[in-house]
Amino acid sequence: MSRLAGRRVLVTGASSGFGAAIARLCAQEGADVALVARRVERLEALAQEVRGQGRQAVICPCDVQDPGQVQAAVEQTRAALGGIDVLVNNAGTNLSHRSIQETTLEEWRRLLEVNLTSAFHFTRLVMPEMVARGQGTIVNIASRAANYPSLLAGVGYSASKLGMQALNRITNEEGNPHNVRACVVNPGVANTPILDHRPRPPSPAARRAMLQPEDIAEAVIFVASLPSRVLVERLDIYPTRVDVS
Ligand SMILES: NC(=O)c1ccc[n+]([C@@H]2O[C@H](COP(=O)([O-])OP(=O)(O)OC[C@H]3O[C@@H](n4cnc5c(N)ncnc54)[C@H](OP(=O)(O)O)[C@@H]3O)[C@@H](O)[C@H]2O)c1
Repeated sequence: MSRLAGRRVLVTGASSGFGAAIARLCAQEGADVALVARRVERLEALAQEVRGQGRQAVICPCDVQDPGQVQAAVEQTRAALGGIDVLVNNAGTNLSHRSIQETTLEEWRRLLEVNLTSAFHFTRLVMPEMVARGQGTIVNIASRAANYPSLLAGVGYSASKLGMQALNRITNEEGNPHNVRACVVNPGVANTPILDHRPRPPSPAARRAMLQPEDIAEAVIFVASLPSRVLVERLDIYPTRVDVS
């Protein structure tokens, strides 16, 4: 299938978990991809895989906390691919400790910068070309924690993901008159390395019952491949089994 034939997709956090699965499936669906993250070797390996499928892949080593590196990643993508049709704001992290008292001010700021401010910055840089083209899709990977902030997810993490929902709404308010759309995807718990940060990481059996990265990748392709008249504003994607958390 080639549901994204000829599209140019920038994915942040492409070195692992959801981001790697999203970039891989986008390429399988005919897109060229820009891979943004800090771990260059992982991006190199994925880029090789994508090129092996006959698609272009550009590697953008980038700490999304650094505004200069974010700007450079966008410029590098434009230089290599000619533009960005789909932006996936996926990079994110969490802490091992999650309560208000255990979270330092510095950690709170870092969570908000990585999870939320970077999405704002990428959106701010990429939206003008989408508006000028009269087409574009932005996918914001938030979390079930945006719908149900919790101590299990953590105070800084929950706040950052709730913030993404506000960013998503206002992206639509500004973008929809120009045919630019944004979707916030709220996954429940999924089997990726981010769970290793938990105070008590889940068992292998629990991980098998959770969402898998490919499930989220499918959702992103669905949203981005629908005709531009269709706005999917929000997708809540949870594991079917309620005992998995
Ligand atoms: N897994 C879940 O249960 C779950 C549920 C809901 C939402 N989410 C969200 O899904 C997104 C992807 O997470 P994941 O589960 O796939 O976890 P993951 O496997 O740990 O991936 C996180 C990605 O974010 C990147 N990243 C983190 N800090 C970064 C920084 N400062 N600069 C650039 N890139 C950075 C990492 O790349 P580098 O380390 O190479 O920089 C990595 O590619 C996150 O936003 C997460 O909050 C996950």
